[in-house]
Amino acid sequence: MQFKAVTLLAAFAGLAQAQTFTSTYVDPVNGLKYQSATENGITFGVALPATSNPTELVVQMRAPASVGWVGGSLGGSMKYSLLLVAWLNAQNQIVVSPRYATDYVMPTPLSGPVITVLKDSGIVNGELKVNVRCQGCTSWAGSEGTQSIATSGFQLLAYAANSFTKPSTPSSASSSLGIHSIFGILPALEMADAQNSDYTSKVNAQLPFAPPLPLLPSLSTPLSLAANSKLPALPPALALRPLPHRTVDLALLS
Ligand code: HEM
Repeated sequence: MQFKAVTLLAAFAGLAQAQTFTSTYVDPVNGLKYQSATENGITFGVALPATSNPTELVVQMRAPASVGWVGGSLGGSMKYSLLLVAWLNAQNQIVVSPRYATDYVMPTPLSGPVITVLKDSGIVNGELKVNVRCQGCTSWAGSEGTQSIATSGFQLLAYAANSFTKPSTPSSASSSLGIHSIFGILPALEMADAQNSDYTSKVNAQLPFAPPLPLLPSLSTPLSLAANSKLPALPPALALRPLPHRTVDLALLS
């Protein structure tokens, strides 16, 4: 009987506790391999380059589409960690804000990290999916000195979210935001398993802008313009781009 009561209590305690799942997750769209954990409907994962001492990483956060804001901690705590907080603005574009806190109060914007929201982000299957390239994010300087995320070996990560309420000015990355309705410290994850040997090509394929256009081919023969001659028509791709500044000797044209 006593055994039964204990078992029952344990079962209820288990029910009250959020279930956590960890996985080595390969994103079906961008092909990156993440070490990730899911708890309370929030998934937080990181993908690293397979280089020694990388300075950047990709963070993936997924949450129900109705979430107010979702955030991840790269140091596994709220205080003294690089926090990445994301939400949708009025145009349903993802805004990402790097933050830092020295106390359990609203974290303030942190300068240093360079954030690029990758193409493979948005509302996917009813979930907000945020894929962020974070450059200068494997270490961060705050009032506790410089801290860093392990890039191999075990690392604690943490998450937090406000399930209902957006930041007060959703258009601004430095907006005020209200306290989380859920949060948790995730089980330690092996960062060696988050390393991607083809990180750069996979990230480049998801950059939001097309790669820079090739430079204009240099002219192999100098332009010699006879009187009344017409300039050759430019191919459309070149005509659309501003031509480099050239000085034309007007005497040649007369
Ligand atoms: C107005 C904003 C915020 C306030 C007032 C606030 C306040 C707090 C408080 C009081 C706790 C302790 C709760 C407890 O132990 O019961 C806590 C924990 C936590 N918070 Fe926040 N928080 C804010 C925003 C954030 C944000 C934006 C993140 C992450 C992106 C975050 C991540 C965490 C995490 C991971 C914990 C648990 C781990 C720890 O204690 O360090 N918080 N927060």
